[in-house]
Amino acid sequence: MTLKEMIFKRKSCRSFTNIPVDAATIEIIKAFPMKPLYPDIKVHWDIVPRNQVKCICPWTTPQLITIYSEEVEGYLENIGFLFQQMDLYLQTLGLGVCWLGMGRMNPKTTTDVEGMKFVIMLAFGHPKGDQLRHDLKGFKRKPMDQITDKSDPRLEPARLAPSAVNSQPWYFTHEDDTIHVHCSKKGSRLDIGIALAHLYAANEESFRFFHAGHVSDLPGYTYMGSVTL
Ligand SMILES: Cc1cc2nc3c(=O)[nH]c(=O)nc-3n(C[C@H](O)[C@H](O)[C@H](O)COP(=O)(O)O)c2cc1C
Repeated sequence: MTLKEMIFKRKSCRSFTNIPVDAATIEIIKAFPMKPLYPDIKVHWDIVPRNQVKCICPWTTPQLITIYSEEVEGYLENIGFLFQQMDLYLQTLGLGVCWLGMGRMNPKTTTDVEGMKFVIMLAFGHPKGDQLRHDLKGFKRKPMDQITDKSDPRLEPARLAPSAVNSQPWYFTHEDDTIHVHCSKKGSRLDIGIALAHLYAANEESFRFFHAGHVSDLPGYTYMGSVTL
């Protein structure tokens, strides 16, 4: 299955076996090429065993992806954009995955990565049973008219994107061929990167992201950038 096809099937997985992902698969995962939103922002990521993280959640995985970034303008969108590609990719490998905003590094078993801020982690592993969605009815999402000024089927991949506590903080406005992307003031910029990753995965060849100088903030929202698809 392609990443584009996975957009319409993926689901956060919270039920895993205790069997670790084998070393050969870990190498394949490490070699997966992810496109950055901001290529100049330094990012560091690793696959670590469970004892290196702290998380108060009732489920766990033997391995996790831990993600660090330089803390500069755009870093959260960049991390969301990069690792939502990974979220989709892991599921094409038959693995389950869940973003873990409540996870922290365990200071007793880890050392800081110099010059980098810990941002977030992804839990991943072998799912118990089939974790994918089989139709769109399984997605709890805002309807199209609540996320855009103009109904646009090209925005369906963004509408289906995951977000922290399913907050879906994105709003899209149209100007000719360009779609402007806005984040609600209380929303997470990381989630905007995730929605952009779905637009990229669905339009890999033509996706372009840029900042249009003239776009002003909508009431209650911050302008995040613009795309052509
Ligand atoms: C940035 C981010 C952080 C998240 N943190 C957690 C978390 O700490 N625990 C959890 O169970 N789910 C977490 N989730 C999963 C969301 O709750 C989930 O994506 C959302 O409810 C939509 O459901 P879906 O991913 O199954 O489509 C997180 C998702 C994102 C994007």
